[in-house]
Amino acid sequence: MGFKLAIFISGRGSNMKEIVRACQRKELKSSIELIVSNNIKAPGLLIPEIKKIPILTLDESNLNNKEFYLLLEKSLINSGIELICLAGFMKVLDKAFVNKWKNKIINIHPSLLPAFKGLKPQLNAIKSKVKYAGCTVHYVNEKIDSGNIIDQDIVKVDLDENETSLSKKILKKEHKLYIKVIKYLEDCHG
Ligand code: GRF
Repeated sequence: MGFKLAIFISGRGSNMKEIVRACQRKELKSSIELIVSNNIKAPGLLIPEIKKIPILTLDESNLNNKEFYLLLEKSLINSGIELICLAGFMKVLDKAFVNKWKNKIINIHPSLLPAFKGLKPQLNAIKSKVKYAGCTVHYVNEKIDSGNIIDQDIVKVDLDENETSLSKKILKKEHKLYIKVIKYLEDCHG
């Protein structure tokens, strides 16, 4: 069974775009009911594929923490959201919010968790001279990049690899992995 999805972004939105497209071509049974951005200037908000989808922008410079979460919760509930997909959402969500939406928030991270949590995982992978890197989709809990892992995919790190080339390679895998995971969760959902 499909979910009513919300996708949270802060930037480029390429993972969001892939999920939207997969819903539009019915590869996924889910429907995107809401896009949330905490960055009013996120380039992802200009992607043509999301034209008809409601967008909630939460400008943190004009909202205190309480207002931020009140608006967010209200919109999620009004839209009947069943699953939240974080896709380059650069804000750490409050413990209270995460607990309320337990097992209903998933995130994609460009490393083979539990390795390289947090920022710049691709650069840190290169610095550590690992032979393989990759991406992970995991449930979100109150600790950064630490919730239960749902699925991962790997890429080989070449000898001449740099942060840009590795990020590109991983991103290609991310786009496929996120769809695969949502499909899997849809199957589990009934
Ligand atoms: C991706 O690498 C994702 O794994 C990370 O942030 C990046 C977002 O990229 N959390 P995009 O906005 O989906 O293009």
